[in-house]
Amino acid sequence: MEKLLTLENVNVSYVNKEKKVYAVRNVSFSIEKGDSLGIVGESGSGKSTLAMALLRLHNENLTEITGKALFSGKNLLEITQEEMNELRWQDISVVFQKAMNALSPVHRIGEQVEDIYHIHVPQASKKEIEERMIKLLKLVNLPERVYRLYPHEMSGGMLQRVAIAVSLLHDPKLVIFDEATTALDVVTQGQILEEVVQMEKEMDMTRIMITHDMSVVAASCNKVAVLYAGELMEVGYVKDIFKNPMHPYTQGLLNSFPSLKGECEVLHAIPGFLPDLSKPSEGCIFAPRCPHADDRCRREKPVQQTMKDTRQVACWLHQGGEENE
Ligand SMILES: Nc1ncnc2c1ncn2[C@@H]1O[C@H](COP(=O)(O)OP(=O)(O)OP(=O)(O)O)[C@@H](O)[C@H]1O
Ligand SMILES: [Mg+2]
Repeated sequence: MEKLLTLENVNVSYVNKEKKVYAVRNVSFSIEKGDSLGIVGESGSGKSTLAMALLRLHNENLTEITGKALFSGKNLLEITQEEMNELRWQDISVVFQKAMNALSPVHRIGEQVEDIYHIHVPQASKKEIEERMIKLLKLVNLPERVYRLYPHEMSGGMLQRVAIAVSLLHDPKLVIFDEATTALDVVTQGQILEEVVQMEKEMDMTRIMITHDMSVVAASCNKVAVLYAGELMEVGYVKDIFKNPMHPYTQGLLNSFPSLKGECEVLHAIPGFLPDLSKPSEGCIFAPRCPHADDRCRREKPVQQTMKDTRQVACWLHQGGEENE
């Protein structure tokens, strides 16, 4: 399969006078065309930082970004802001949590869509834009009349659907959802996820789904990348990783979520907290919280290993690479 995005040793640090926060550390993985990849990890694990780096939304004076993020032959981390402005929305778009807050309360949805559309296609006619948006509104299960409504006339779920539709205006190759459905009730969230999965079948779309909710990944992604304290612990197919998580952190994350089948069981939180991200880590960054950690784990960083089912795991327990059946 053709790769759409390949990350190689991506590091993102926030720097100010007093200290440096190593928020994303040496992350490498790739996304194939048509993939849907969930990025999971507890709060503060660097998920949004990574997404913002890919879109170059950080204040460049206060961040240090190294590594490569290759997209259509370009390194997203190195291109100029002008080049990025060309790509943003046209090729890569993003939907944030509460994206609806970005809409102006005093203009109808249609007027705002026209403004957004004209940034990239200044010559587009009103009719052309309306037709395009109405087609997208249908995809996210909204009626045509939404085009003429003001944001305050809609519910949170409707507005988030509008935000998703807007992100698809220019048929982007890659869409990044950053907790885009988190603020919604579970029923609405479930419906939107179904619509997104359906939409992908109809459009040539690749998606990154950032969430701390494993059930969102289970419902809408075919691959998953597990981040902890800015480092990649495990990445591979959802069907393999959910059935047989290999990294102790992935095991902990899955154990701390209610069963996806709805069975009653005791949930186990992962004891301890994220480490201080202003310090570089020597051994495995998860070692202080890992029930299996030994001296080597605390001393040396495990290398990412590729298993038979193509997943990659960074853990000393799996350095042979062959334990996986
Ligand atoms: N502008 C900033 N300046 C300094 N540190 C920051 C900044 N933004 C984020 N951080 C730190 O970087 C780390 C990663 O944060 P990030 O927002 O990427 O996590 P996240 O995985 O998206 O968490 P959440 O699930 O809560 O959204 C955290 O330790 C956070 O405190
Ligand atoms: Mg975040």
